[in-house]
Amino acid sequence: MNMRLLLIFLGIVSVLIANQNLAFPKDYKEGVLYTSVIRGGVIEDIYAPKEAILALKEGKNLPDQTIITMEEYANDAGVRARLNRYIIMQKQGKEWKFQAFKADKSLNSAENTTRCLNCHKSISGEDIVFSLEAMKSYKGE
Ligand code: HEC
Repeated sequence: MNMRLLLIFLGIVSVLIANQNLAFPKDYKEGVLYTSVIRGGVIEDIYAPKEAILALKEGKNLPDQTIITMEEYANDAGVRARLNRYIIMQKQGKEWKFQAFKADKSLNSAENTTRCLNCHKSISGEDIVFSLEAMKSYKGE
């Protein structure tokens, strides 16, 4: 392969990687449920890996590849009813990627993840996580 073809090939590969969807984080329950948020009609249970919480407690940023997972339930007078969906965010270097999944854990490709990023970007700093303080002050083991 000559150099130019190689560069074109690498360019295509990097575009494919950049646009890749995140897979469902099947091990997220090995992490901890560090906070629950009631937001009108939904109850949100938010999970993070223990190492991520530890890093925050040590005053560091969240580690590369950290995945934060939210289970979103219908709120039936303060009780979790039907599971609506899952949404996740993953740190990749200093960037965050977002993804939505249906209740059966299949990818929801109809979701516009640029919207996710744009809202989360309203947080300053590297870790654009709204519940960062809750994660930092999580008291469990
Ligand atoms: C209009 C603003 C907004 C949009 C759009 C948005 N989020 Fe969020 N997100 C929030 C807020 C605020 C929270 C904190 C929990 C709460 O208050 O409900 C949150 C929490 C989260 C969390 C838990 C970690 C954290 O930041 O606290 C994840 C994961 C998440 N969102 C993923 C997504 C994904 C994926 C999308 C797009 C499908 C999305 N969000 C779209 C505002 C937004």
